[in-house]
Amino acid sequence: MTGQPTALQAIPGHIALIMDGNGRWAENRSLPKFKGHEAGMDAMIRVVRHASDIGVKHLTVYAFSTENWKRSVGEVAGIFDLLLIYVNRELEELHRNGVRVDILGDRTPFSKKVNAALDKTIQKTKDNDGLRFHIALNYGGRADILMAAKDFAMTFAEGHLEKSLKDFDERDFARYLYTDGTPDPDLLIRPGGEKRLSNFLLWQIAYAELVFSDVLWPDFGPEDLDLAIGEYGARKRRFGGRI
Ligand code: FPP
Repeated sequence: MTGQPTALQAIPGHIALIMDGNGRWAENRSLPKFKGHEAGMDAMIRVVRHASDIGVKHLTVYAFSTENWKRSVGEVAGIFDLLLIYVNRELEELHRNGVRVDILGDRTPFSKKVNAALDKTIQKTKDNDGLRFHIALNYGGRADILMAAKDFAMTFAEGHLEKSLKDFDERDFARYLYTDGTPDPDLLIRPGGEKRLSNFLLWQIAYAELVFSDVLWPDFGPEDLDLAIGEYGARKRRFGGRI
């Protein structure tokens, strides 16, 4: 399947994306790794634009994981420099297209400059009603669940739990996660050839359809997104039931 998804085709309400393969893309071209991340940012811009055009409601991208701090200081700094370039350069276009941006993850270790740019982006786009673009930064699925559990325990210990423990269910717990207010992903796409989840949205992807692609992230384009959506559309989702 190529080209734009047809009107009849199911567009997933929420797509989660693991942007993998920047390093190998650069290596294949004998370029420094930073160039791979730069090309990865361009791919992200194209995919966000396309997702918005075809009516995806939520797109969550894994831009920096809690484990990515293990990379070299230079690489980490380069990724955050790109993030600044991205939010400063693309903010007007995102806003014009009605995109609403928010961040998932622990922002406390970020510099004042990065946090100020993120705040400005969130603030400026907060009333937009188009694509919800969630950028996972210093995010880890386990850290998300642990933070939620601690927050829940604190609420309970302080006697502020809104219902009895007996009636407290999965939906109630999900309100403590970074993704509070966002429906679970319907489709998770991982380009780059690896077939693992890498600690991304572990709670939230319980029933997501998984699509893996060998295309390295910087080469991933609108047509690859359409292919993944086509594959998603051909799946029968049963959510544990038998239909
Ligand atoms: C994984 O590729 C990618 C990352 C760790 C960073 C993702 C960053 C971007 C797409 C660009 C910047 C955008 C923002 C918003 C900061 P990898 O280096 O693990 O690739 P490899 O598996 O080939 O080594």
